[in-house]
Amino acid sequence: MTILLKNAKIFDGRSLGGECEDILVKDGVIARRGSGLPEDGAEVYDLGGKLVCPGFIDLHVHFRDPGYEWREDTESGARAAAAGGYSTVVTMPNTEPAVDNPVTVEYLLARGKRAGGARVLPSGCVSKGRQGKQLAELGLMAETGAVLFTDDGSPVWDAKLLKTALLYSKDLDVRIMEHPEEPSLTAKAHVNEGVVSASSGLKGWPASAEVIDIQRGIALSRETDAPIHFTHVSTELGVDAVRQAKKEGLPVTCDVTPHHLSLDENCILVSRFSSTYKVNPPLRTRKDVKALWEAIADGTADAIVTDHAPYHMDEKDVPFQEAPCGIASIECSVAVVLDTWLKLGEPVALEHLLSLFTSGPAALLPRPWRALGAIKEGAAADITVLDLDAVKRVDVNEWKSKARLCPWDGEMLQGWPVMTLVEGNVRMNRLEDGE
Ligand code: DOR
Ligand code: ZN
Repeated sequence: MTILLKNAKIFDGRSLGGECEDILVKDGVIARRGSGLPEDGAEVYDLGGKLVCPGFIDLHVHFRDPGYEWREDTESGARAAAAGGYSTVVTMPNTEPAVDNPVTVEYLLARGKRAGGARVLPSGCVSKGRQGKQLAELGLMAETGAVLFTDDGSPVWDAKLLKTALLYSKDLDVRIMEHPEEPSLTAKAHVNEGVVSASSGLKGWPASAEVIDIQRGIALSRETDAPIHFTHVSTELGVDAVRQAKKEGLPVTCDVTPHHLSLDENCILVSRFSSTYKVNPPLRTRKDVKALWEAIADGTADAIVTDHAPYHMDEKDVPFQEAPCGIASIECSVAVVLDTWLKLGEPVALEHLLSLFTSGPAALLPRPWRALGAIKEGAAADITVLDLDAVKRVDVNEWKSKARLCPWDGEMLQGWPVMTLVEGNVRMNRLEDGE
């Protein structure tokens, strides 16, 4: 199939073109970029100045397959991701059973291919069953197609095992993504340690729990010379630690989430302890939110990831203390970030913000996926079209995701993805909605 995207501003993964141009997509690849390209029987979409970007990449989603498919499965998750403007997602391995072997990786790749949504790339566990006792089958999983190793949901429990895994991961060219949390400090904690924990009596989750684990990982990266990536960094102390490590020249990277960039611990008080806002790591202070935006601005943050963590309504509809941690956001996360960015008065350049959805995360993936995240002739036609002027209400009832609880449900947000292409296939198209 041939598709012509006409009259678009083009963000190529690094910089934003000034004039409107066209993109010709043929046989799944970007065949040409230029002005006034001939239509030649192509399916034509006039984008009227909207923004063509490399397909957005989300390095951190929970699709609950295998084992908890009532929350989400590969098909609903992949379609939800495409609806949210993502062309590639990396699934987390905290499933049942956990993704700690090549057979489960293969299963997920096959399910993803059939789903007809975003491209699904699985991550594999660092340790068997995420128990921190024995290494998982890292080599075989990498060979089968695992693109990251992580025990996400929890940190890697054992420092020696993490060190060994870092050495293997360096050779395999598959990065370790650490969920930074020192568990002795977070046991039975529900909210950020500070005003909200003090005023509610709920046990607090201190910033130190995050930075201690980040410092452990940095020390091991320094010793092994292996890359380490810290996911959903939520505190000023956390991003400061990563900033220092980068200054030292260590191969240390991190990502931040839409919820930690837009919400703070006060949401819990204002909502009178709605479990919608319960998440790991917890929502932090306004000062931390500001620090995360500064981390984006100065290049400390390498990617924005959703940590889309769907639960069934019945599981979340319980008292705050009993509810599981997780925010489902993949179908509105891009709008949440763009809307917050606009409301804050555009604290970073648009190009830079967009790089955190595209070239930033792509650079953290192994070959051949590292090449995603760029609009280039000859590259896979993974494309996300953005309409920065579109204003739309979040409505969970329209979601492809099985999740129905979301902090932004009912809110009007500005800046939405309106089209998603995966290898030249249209996986979401809201151009006709008049947005
Ligand atoms: O809030 C979270 N939910 N954080 C995690 O690290 C795991 C996730 C989940 O699996 O529900
Ligand atoms: Zn996590």
